[in-house]
Amino acid sequence: MTDISINIPLCSGCKTCTEVCPYFILKMDESAEKPTVDPLKIANCCHCGHCEAVCPEGAITVNYPGSGLVHGITKNNPITPAQIGQHLMMRRSIRDYTVELVPEETLRQILEIIRYAPTGMNGQPVHWLVMRDPAEIHHLAGTIIEWGRDVVKNQPGHPLASILPMIIEAWDHGADPVCHSAPCIVIAHGQKDNPNAFIDSVIAMTHFDLVAPSFDLGTCWAGFVQIAADASPEVFQALHLPEGHRSQYAMLVGYPKFRFRRIPKRDALKVTWR
Ligand SMILES: Cc1cc2nc3c(=O)[nH]c(=O)nc-3n(C[C@H](O)[C@H](O)[C@H](O)COP(=O)(O)O)c2cc1C
Repeated sequence: MTDISINIPLCSGCKTCTEVCPYFILKMDESAEKPTVDPLKIANCCHCGHCEAVCPEGAITVNYPGSGLVHGITKNNPITPAQIGQHLMMRRSIRDYTVELVPEETLRQILEIIRYAPTGMNGQPVHWLVMRDPAEIHHLAGTIIEWGRDVVKNQPGHPLASILPMIIEAWDHGADPVCHSAPCIVIAHGQKDNPNAFIDSVIAMTHFDLVAPSFDLGTCWAGFVQIAADASPEVFQALHLPEGHRSQYAMLVGYPKFRFRRIPKRDALKVTWR
């Protein structure tokens, strides 16, 4: 079980932690004007550590059994393993974006870099769909929510059945917990019968994920979008992919609303040395 402790005297009540929590576990105690942990939702905590990493005052500590070494941020290094390590460890899933649109030219520059990502037998099977129309993204999210309602009603054993009601409730209250109101979605797609297309797309998407912060962009792997695109003909059709193509993975992109200041905990290294 995750333990989230809040140092209330240190907390400024800025609400950032309540906004970044993906599972709505932190909520505002309106009378105290400070955040509090919802005891009914703490069991859903995926110990992403975003609340701890984003807090401007350093007022939140997240602990969970089995967490590994805690890394601090080092500054002013030359280009070294430490520097790339810091870049990779500071990458976060961004779920709160500004309304600023991402220029096509910026996305083109990223895609030009990542077309050098490795591919099996250098087959280079990855195609990209870039969606930059917020109305179209909102419509896609709505189509995914409709699929989610159907899953909740008719597929109680679905792996997402327990989390979908929370997602649907947030949508019905005006939030977008599917696409997080991102101003851009990129989708890697390719021939569905190409055995390398999935892994090559995921590698390329990983490169996208890692390059994006150097353009001041934030990203979030869009699992809900991908799962729904595989499961729902309506969602798949909304993507208008070429005949014979599958959406291999989706990623949200936009300018982050919040800056993460710390590196959160992750599981201790699991390795067998021989
Ligand atoms: C394959 C994959 C799918 C994901 N899908 C979603 C998603 O649908 N919605 C979401 O908010 N986060 C999604 N995430 C983000 C994870 O929740 C996140 O990586 C994890 O909590 C760790 O946080 P970090 O990326 O900031 O280190 C996904 C991540 C991965 C790798």
